[in-house]
Amino acid sequence: MATALVTGASSGIGAEFARQLASRGMDVVLVARSIDRLQQLAEELQPQYGIDTTVLVADLTQPQDVERVYTETEGRGTTIDLLINNAGFGDYGEFAKSDRAKILSMVQLNVTALVDLTHRFLPPMQQRQSGCILNMGSIASFQPLPYFSVYAATKAFVLSFSESLWAENRKTGVKILALCPGPTDTNFFEVSGSPASNGNSQQLASVEEVVRDAIAALEKDTSNVVVGGFANQVMTTLTRFFPRDVLVQAVEQQFRPNRD
Ligand SMILES: NC(=O)c1ccc[n+]([C@@H]2O[C@H](COP(=O)([O-])OP(=O)(O)OC[C@H]3O[C@@H](n4cnc5c(N)ncnc54)[C@H](OP(=O)(O)O)[C@@H]3O)[C@@H](O)[C@H]2O)c1
Repeated sequence: MATALVTGASSGIGAEFARQLASRGMDVVLVARSIDRLQQLAEELQPQYGIDTTVLVADLTQPQDVERVYTETEGRGTTIDLLINNAGFGDYGEFAKSDRAKILSMVQLNVTALVDLTHRFLPPMQQRQSGCILNMGSIASFQPLPYFSVYAATKAFVLSFSESLWAENRKTGVKILALCPGPTDTNFFEVSGSPASNGNSQQLASVEEVVRDAIAALEKDTSNVVVGGFANQVMTTLTRFFPRDVLVQAVEQQFRPNRD
């Protein structure tokens, strides 16, 4: 049976990936820091779908934990067919006032751990001439976001990195996909300390819709996919037609925190 490894599987989009992949008969390796939530999910999915579940507790801001995710799976002979690099978080507010340790750990999780895991799991996939790596971008991958400056830059990195790897791997049998959702109904906004919509009336997409469309995109030959509603497609397309200085000033106004 094929196996998927999902980082950030304890909540939100990652937990939904685990559910939908398990419902398709895939074994799942669930990775995050919250052991209770991972075990609860594993205990739900194993009997419901008759699949194998493995819980791996790891803080992916720690390089030794990232290494352990590899050594305790592929390194021990468990073939990982699908790697979902989903774990990530944002931090809302003025950059100069942000907590340095927090933004550096965001870069460590959203960028460094994702590159590290990709670098470990890709060569065995290439050897087998099969496998998929899905990297979690965002519609923020397509434009700078003042007051989410570091977060948007991490997601721009993910898109650029994934597109390059997609092109490098077209003849290897390994698919690389950057998944770019818009605002989605998860803990993201609470964790990042941001209002969900920033004054914009856009609805939050459901995790079910985001993951369903992501899995459908994995079946196509494409380097990236924007999901979570038509408005996200429009927004990511329109950004190409505006001068970058004009665009970023408009976004600055939209995202500016309320002043005291
Ligand atoms: N929600 C949105 O609007 C939206 C839009 C575009 C992209 N995204 C991206 O989607 C991904 C998933 O976020 P979400 O929206 O589902 O938010 P979420 O519900 O807060 O999920 C975040 C997941 O990341 C895990 N995580 C956080 N820090 C970690 C660490 N140090 N080590 C290991 N795992 C860690 C969390 O688990 P633990 O706390 O248990 O470790 C949790 O499972 C993120 O990359 C986010 O940037 C979200």
